[in-house]
Amino acid sequence: ASLAALDTSIPAPNRRQDRTLPEPAHPGSGFTNTPDTDPSLPANRAWGRAILERVATSELGNDVVAATTLTRAEDLEDTIAGAVAAASSWGSLTGAERAAVLHRAGDALEARRADLMEVMAAETGKTLDQADPEISEAVDFAHYYAERARELDDVDGASFSPVRLTVVTPPWNFPVAIPAGSTLAALAAGSSVIIKPASQARRSGSVMIEALWAAGVPREVLRLVQVDERDLGRRLISDPRVDRVILTGGYETAELFRSFRTDLPLLAETSGKNAIIVTPSADLDLAAKDVAQSAFGHAGQKCSAASLVILVGSVGTSQRFRNQLLDAVTSLSVGYPSDPSTQMGPVIEPAAGKLLDGLTKLGDGESWLVEPQRLDDSGRLWSPGVRDGVKRGSTYHLTEYFGPILGIMTAPTLEDAIVLQNDIDYGLTSGIHSLDSREIATWIDGVQAGNLYVNRGITGAIVQRQPFGGWKKSAVGAGTKAGGPNYLVGLGTWSPRESAA
Ligand code: SER
Repeated sequence: ASLAALDTSIPAPNRRQDRTLPEPAHPGSGFTNTPDTDPSLPANRAWGRAILERVATSELGNDVVAATTLTRAEDLEDTIAGAVAAASSWGSLTGAERAAVLHRAGDALEARRADLMEVMAAETGKTLDQADPEISEAVDFAHYYAERARELDDVDGASFSPVRLTVVTPPWNFPVAIPAGSTLAALAAGSSVIIKPASQARRSGSVMIEALWAAGVPREVLRLVQVDERDLGRRLISDPRVDRVILTGGYETAELFRSFRTDLPLLAETSGKNAIIVTPSADLDLAAKDVAQSAFGHAGQKCSAASLVILVGSVGTSQRFRNQLLDAVTSLSVGYPSDPSTQMGPVIEPAAGKLLDGLTKLGDGESWLVEPQRLDDSGRLWSPGVRDGVKRGSTYHLTEYFGPILGIMTAPTLEDAIVLQNDIDYGLTSGIHSLDSREIATWIDGVQAGNLYVNRGITGAIVQRQPFGGWKKSAVGAGTKAGGPNYLVGLGTWSPRESAA
């Protein structure tokens, strides 16, 4: 299917508010979260099946990865110069004027929900239950940042000047929501944007950007390039006309970018090695379910995923929680997303290097509670693995693997468990399962991570409700959280407003 052919044939689903979340906790924010598609409605299930049939065709024909035109070196200069030139007209619109365009962009992303889910599933192996909330998040970013743009008009005694040019370099694991969020934030602030989708998700990125253009975001202001990071990407990022680079990716990529240009104005959301603590007071059934979902949703390929579970006291010395986890993990059905029964999809590329080691090798004193199996010749399809007996300071304890592996550690007390969490250089998400409010308070006080979750999974932050951003080596040059009230502020400067004479 060509991009054009994707546009029409799947009817809009019969959707309804299905999120069992409270009413907005932020009155006056002008924003309500977009609902996910409710699979309990028969029409929605038919809609999902239609998408999956098209995904199956793409998987068979492998046409998703077909011909993305790469940007030529001679065009890159025009792209940069053009984006800078267009910045003044876009940046001089009022926040309210830009908000109107962004709200239309949110509606356009919603209208292309099916197309975006299809491309994402075919291109990156994401299952529909993961793809659908990702579209909701992208739509949320548009409407949320639109309202934050309007607020930039109303600050007493100060005026906001956006940066001129923002370069957005998103990852492949959230190939729609993260590029959309970074791009829409920069546009809302009044900056021009050049976006370089991840090479594994070029088509998801381009369909998303097409939706924004169709909604009225000027093509001069928002430009798409398809380049390799080490080649033209390096030239783009090093260009002194670039005022901000919004990167979501590995910590090593942030270091690579900084090696391109030492004064790089980087806002980077980087790696994670995230743990959930389970104390003896916890609801262990709920904990096992949340740990399994956080570890193996999207095959563990989320910066927010749980890679460790730390069992406190009697939870660690008995088999009960381990048995519950074993049941939860071994009952996951693994396959390609075109199969509707698939709960966990493939990894993005044939497992190699660090990930292959994580799936096949045990460290000192470790044993498999659930041993990962390679399920086909592609090297991409692995059943989930759980290793027990991970020791403090071991390679598994401290390394991000970005795949379907979970490690179990034990600690005599909650305080010891917090020490194990904080040993890690990263600090993105973190969780606790406990029904004791004193334990929860101790943990919140002591744990070093950007997003803390109590008695729930640790992935799937929702715009405005859970602004998302890390601490320690999980963030570089950031400081404000995506999907939160202050994100746009980092994309410009404030100066005292001259009083009207
Ligand atoms: N925002 C995503 C999550 O919360 C990760 O990028 O899972």
